[in-house]
Amino acid sequence: MNPKENAARKALELIQSGMILGLGTGSTAERFVRALAEEVAKGLTVVGIPSSKETEELAISLGIPLSTLEEHGKVDLTVDGADEVDPSFNLIKGLGGALVREKILASVSRGMAVIVDSSKLTDRLGSRSPVPVEVIPYGVAPCRRKLEEMGASVALRLAGSAPFVTDNGNQVLDARFKQIPDPAGLESQINDIPGVVGNGLFIGMADTVIVGTEEGATVKRKGDRG
Ligand code: 5RP
Repeated sequence: MNPKENAARKALELIQSGMILGLGTGSTAERFVRALAEEVAKGLTVVGIPSSKETEELAISLGIPLSTLEEHGKVDLTVDGADEVDPSFNLIKGLGGALVREKILASVSRGMAVIVDSSKLTDRLGSRSPVPVEVIPYGVAPCRRKLEEMGASVALRLAGSAPFVTDNGNQVLDARFKQIPDPAGLESQINDIPGVVGNGLFIGMADTVIVGTEEGATVKRKGDRG
């Protein structure tokens, strides 16, 4: 089976009836939502809180009951994909554009399980992926200059020939850094730029990483050896 499918299906083992679930965004998270819907159809009772309009529409179409962060102050578990995962379970997320809502959900979740294939594992964050930075439209040019002053090569994300627009009505600058020696420091430094709404560095948020392969999936929990 497909590695992303295997990771997504393995995540079902973490789900219990009665849970409030954060539902991520992206192709791996979509596989999880579809697999979850099969369990809901068989009688699993969960409530999902989606991280994007795309996931919301998918979950509704599949019959997963949904709620909001107004109704629930805490989420039991968020299951989401990632673009890079380092050995400390720090992440780069947001190539799908839902980084700000995904980070809000993760921040109120008791647990965050990341579902990936092995291509997402990296020794050092930033080795393949840029850091997505969501910026209000008025601030795009100054934010871009600030990120460049910080050493990044920056590209405005496009959807066709127009700027990509997030669910929050903002734009995304993809900032590629040669090295990220201090991911937590960089996360704060980027967030301090006026106009920045959030960035795709998720530091200390994930506690479980599920790595799918063609044959199956491995569950790694924070603190496990090896
Ligand atoms: C969306 C994300 C995705 O989780 C990330 O881009 C991984 O996507 P995929 O599962 O399609 O590889 O952060 O904002």
